[in-house]
This record gives sequence, structure tokens and C-alpha cells, in this order.
Amino acid sequence: MSIVSMKLPGLVAGCLLMLYIPAALAEFDRGQALYEGHCMKCHESWAHTRANHKAKSIGELHNRVAGWSMHSGLDWTEAEIDDVVQYLNHRFYQFTEQL
Ligand code: HEC
Repeated sequence: MSIVSMKLPGLVAGCLLMLYIPAALAEFDRGQALYEGHCMKCHESWAHTRANHKAKSIGELHNRVAGWSMHSGLDWTEAEIDDVVQYLNHRFYQFTEQL
């Protein structure tokens, strides 16, 4: 087997990964930036990691993020809310279901 044919599958997989990751990371970064810019003046991890925290599913988390966006007068779009939900879920909640 030549070296080229051995390396090709890895190369293709690598290219696919490079196409996929930047889009996912951009959304993750936007969620993080939105949260850090607007929400951390009141809380960071404690609200999400306290023993009796309130969001018990991805849907509840979404509702609370949407609610806080409204309370804070931010009026985030659905896409912005989603990004923050993904960020918080990835960092704290780790719900496996999707919205
Ligand atoms: C004025 C202060 C304040 C601001 C601003 C604020 N929060 Fe909160 N947040 C709180 C407090 C206090 C709690 C805990 C009490 C509660 O759950 O009602 C909380 C709880 C939460 C929870 C529930 C966590 C859980 O699982 O129990 C979420 C989610 C949340 N905030 C998201 C956000 C997001 C997103 C923003 C930014 C748009 C934000 N908050 C801005 C004060 C704030």
C-alpha cells in the first residue's frame, strides 16, 4: 500500500473537520460573549451549578435564557438565545437532548 493511499482517509476526515468546526466554534464563542457581556454582572457559575438550580431540561434552560434576555431589555433574537443556551449547556448543564 502506498503512503498516499494510507494517508488519504485521514486527510479527507481532517478537511471535513476543518470545515465543520469553525462554524460550531463561532456560535459557541458568540454565546459565550453574549453571556459574559450581559449576564455576568449578576451571576456566573453559581446560578447554574447550585444544588437546587432550576433548569432541569434544555427546554427549561431555553425559557430561562429567553426570560432573562427580556428582563434585561436585550431582546435577543432566537439565534442569539440558542447560542447562549448551547454555551451554558456545554459549560454547566450537559443535557444530552437537543432543542
Ligand atoms: C439583575 C441580575 C441578573 C441578570 C442581569 C441576569 N440574571 Fe440570571 N439570574 C439571576 C438570579 C438572582 C438568579 C437565581 C434566581 C432564579 O433562578 O430566579 C438567576 C438565574 C438564572 C438562570 C437559572 C439557572 C438555574 O438553572 O437555576 C438562568 C438560566 C439565568 N439566570 C440566565 C441568565 C442570562 C442568560 C442572563 C443574561 C441575559 C441573565 N441570567 C442575567 C440574576 C440575574
